[in-house]
Amino acid sequence: MSEIVYERIKENLLALNMRNTLEIIDNYLERAIADKINIVDVLDHILVQESRAKKSRAVESQIQMSGFPFRKSFDMFDFSFQPSIDKAQIDELCTMRFVENRENVVFLGTPGVGKTHLAVALGIVAAQNRYSTYYINCNSLIEQLNRAHFENRLADRLKHFAKYRVLIIDEIGYLPMDMNGANMFFQLIAKRYEKNSTILTSNKTFSQWNEVFSDLTIASAILDRILHHCTVVSIKGESYRLKERNEFMKSKEKIVNTLFDEPKVFND
Ligand SMILES: Nc1ncnc2c1ncn2[C@@H]1O[C@H](COP(=O)(O)OP(=O)(O)O)[C@@H](O)[C@H]1O
Ligand SMILES: [Mg+2]
Repeated sequence: MSEIVYERIKENLLALNMRNTLEIIDNYLERAIADKINIVDVLDHILVQESRAKKSRAVESQIQMSGFPFRKSFDMFDFSFQPSIDKAQIDELCTMRFVENRENVVFLGTPGVGKTHLAVALGIVAAQNRYSTYYINCNSLIEQLNRAHFENRLADRLKHFAKYRVLIIDEIGYLPMDMNGANMFFQLIAKRYEKNSTILTSNKTFSQWNEVFSDLTIASAILDRILHHCTVVSIKGESYRLKERNEFMKSKEKIVNTLFDEPKVFND
């Protein structure tokens, strides 16, 4: 192949943003020529690799933009530690049918049972499937809406949060909301209702949501819309944080005990 043609191929690969092909072309062409691979197979290989690499870059950037507090998957979740979770229900959620049907998911349970882990893992599956996904903690959501309200741009901000195909609102109920906060929260839920999916987590039972939203009417209007099309995963079990802490304390105890063990006397 002439130098000019070769340079032109590289220029065009760059212009077409075929970054993966640009990287592999030198070695791959040399090997393909040596192994006498036919031109159709060469093209097929190059295009398959290029489209795979493009997809994984797109998934990576979707995950980056989603604002997850950590990256944890379902594979990293020990389901045997939480037998109250129906694994079939989780598998069904992973099919993303709930996103297609514009349905919601709520994870309920006491602190440490894995609500955030599961919400993030589900969000990662959504991002991998190229749904626009965003994670936000409930308090910072209300803070952002409050700020927007004072700056006279609440409508824009609500529109912004309403547009994500999957919005994760974590930790509802850790701090109570004032009337204005509850009102803005209701407006967001109403905007998303039957249009997009919201994943929520809370350490409070639904009957305690009245206290969270400081007003019975707003709380029931919010619950009404969230629960109309919704999968509720109620986790009844021990805290994984406590389990890890107890295991750590036990192993520390064991080390300390070994250090203070009576010295062994060996008689020969
Ligand atoms: N069943 C589990 N298997 C593996 N790790 C878990 C499990 N449950 C919780 N964790 C881990 O324990 C920590 C606390 O879980 P988290 O999801 O933050 O709990 P919650 O949101 O319910 O308070 C996280 O690091 C999480 O990854
Ligand atoms: Mg949490």
